[in-house]
Amino acid sequence: MASVSNQHARVLSGMRPTGRLHLGHYHGVLKNWLELQHEYECFFFVADWHALTTQYEDPAGIPDSARDMVIDWLAAGINPSSATLFVQSRVPEHAELHLLLSMITPLGWLERVPTYKDQQEKLKEMDLSTYGFLGYPLLQSADILIYKAGQVPVGEDQIAHVELTREVARRFNHIFGREPDFEVKAEEAKKKMGKKNAKLFDELRRRYQEQGDQEALEVARALLEGQGNITLSDRERLFGYLEGGGRIILPEPQALLTKASKMPGLDGQKMSKSYNNTISLRDSPAEVEKALRTMPTDPARVRRTDPGDPDKCPVWQFHQVYSDSSVHEWVQQGCRSAGIGCLECKQPIVDAVLAELAPIQERAREYEAQPDLVRSILNEGCEKARDVARETMEEVRHAMSLVMS
Ligand code: TRP
Ligand code: SF4
Repeated sequence: MASVSNQHARVLSGMRPTGRLHLGHYHGVLKNWLELQHEYECFFFVADWHALTTQYEDPAGIPDSARDMVIDWLAAGINPSSATLFVQSRVPEHAELHLLLSMITPLGWLERVPTYKDQQEKLKEMDLSTYGFLGYPLLQSADILIYKAGQVPVGEDQIAHVELTREVARRFNHIFGREPDFEVKAEEAKKKMGKKNAKLFDELRRRYQEQGDQEALEVARALLEGQGNITLSDRERLFGYLEGGGRIILPEPQALLTKASKMPGLDGQKMSKSYNNTISLRDSPAEVEKALRTMPTDPARVRRTDPGDPDKCPVWQFHQVYSDSSVHEWVQQGCRSAGIGCLECKQPIVDAVLAELAPIQERAREYEAQPDLVRSILNEGCEKARDVARETMEEVRHAMSLVMS
């Protein structure tokens, strides 16, 4: 188990620039990000290079889509003073790490990523037999590893990419974390912590390595994290030394599975632009109301007097997201007895969605009106991300013998 726990506080996630976001994104991803930004150091980025891996023939819309998406993040409440927001292509170090990782990544690992064949099948109209498309999960690995992120919030479909990232990191550390004089250097680093800490470190290390004592491991990690006056490389050596391996340069991240959102589309399928069943975060109240009033219900309720079954109705799924148990009871009872009409049944949802969207749209209008503000949020975020990325690349170049002395 190779990890560097002081980095576990860092969260990174990216989204392809798809333009304006909808309620599916809000309930599935953004609400999760909103919570994370208070607990962790978060980096959220626009994966514009990832968009090019499929959309290379039609890239013209990417910049506007990116901007609209970032405005929706901000409107949803992502706070640029708690989270770093940036654009992938403006941190070119991602590309350098991608290239360097490609040197050690077996082709089979990429060919075996399930999304590779799946997406090629699904997106038959595009020619995805490209180098970029095959390498895209490795680009994602570079995105993650360059920030030494400990946790990566992703949906089910992306778990395999985080798994690949862990394998690549392990291989990297195995190949490049082995210095000939590793033990000597680790011992020297240990001494720099002072006599008392060095002794404590030895004792904890022994307890972990001899008895597998997890608590000792945690305490030792905390001890290392608390060391203000040792260098980053020394700290990495000691993390590796503690766990019995070489130096850990790229820590293995963990996937933070985002539970599938219960938010259905207007037709009861998954909410997705390609199904044309979305409510966008910036649809006007009149549009929202119209979309909900015209959304399908249990087909058995042809006339107002026909009883229905909420289990066969997408409106009921909306009630799962938006209503409390007393409303649930009212729906169940009223639907099955034809006591309420469908429009009546939908009204609490109309009210709830409008109430949810009002503050989001208010903020979206503010950001829309201040393009310079959005630009400077991204400029600052890109700078901050780049500082971290540059630091990692220094270590990576050193480890891969790309630096002349
Ligand atoms: N591949 C992700 C998607 O298509 C987006 C993404 C790119 C990402 N790099 C990432 C997500 C790094 C998490 C971490 O949705
Ligand atoms: Fe659906 Fe409500 Fe109409 Fe029943 S009453 S069919 S749950 S909209």
